[in-house]
Amino acid sequence: MQAFILLFAYLLGSIPSGLIAGKVFFGIDIRDHGSGNLGATNSFRVLGKKAGAFVTAADILKGTAAALLPLMFDVDVHQLLAGLLAVIGHMFPIFAGFRGGKAVATSAGVLLAYNPLFFLFLAAIFVTMILMTKYVSLASVTAAAGAFIYAVIHTVYTQDIPFLTVVSALAFFVIYRHKSNIVRLKNGTEPKINAGRKN
Ligand code: G3P
Repeated sequence: MQAFILLFAYLLGSIPSGLIAGKVFFGIDIRDHGSGNLGATNSFRVLGKKAGAFVTAADILKGTAAALLPLMFDVDVHQLLAGLLAVIGHMFPIFAGFRGGKAVATSAGVLLAYNPLFFLFLAAIFVTMILMTKYVSLASVTAAAGAFIYAVIHTVYTQDIPFLTVVSALAFFVIYRHKSNIVRLKNGTEPKINAGRKN
């Protein structure tokens, strides 16, 4: 049953909402447009506000639902481990040739299910950074770094090693998957929000 929950979580995360929205409503694969990322930001960029909002909500929901699976099925699997499997599914989706997104929205959904206050703290960092810089990628990387720092401090007081392990993994995934964005930020070629981008 534990393996079933983890597999189910991976499959949930693998649902390529950005690909579905692009194909169904516009007949395109968003990975051939904009940044090429199968994620919420690129959905906004390529497909517009409505589809972008849909993909954001769906990607968050995938993580939230996966992290709730152990509770729903009353199975002894750590919620964060199930969430981690959904994020792996989002990054390497079996339903989309293993070419997925950068882990931001689905990780956020996992933390929303597990610790809503922590989610709100990170959302505040994310929104503040967007308002200040207009770079979604920089906001994502900063929130990931903030999550890691919080997890380290939290663990000093609580010895919550599973929390530290999974949050560190999520932060690493987000930052690593943004390596091309980080290069563009350094070069000054990263597009700001709403600026659009060919490639
Ligand atoms: O959530 C991903 C975002 O931080 C960057 O996306 O498409 O600009 O690479 P993108």
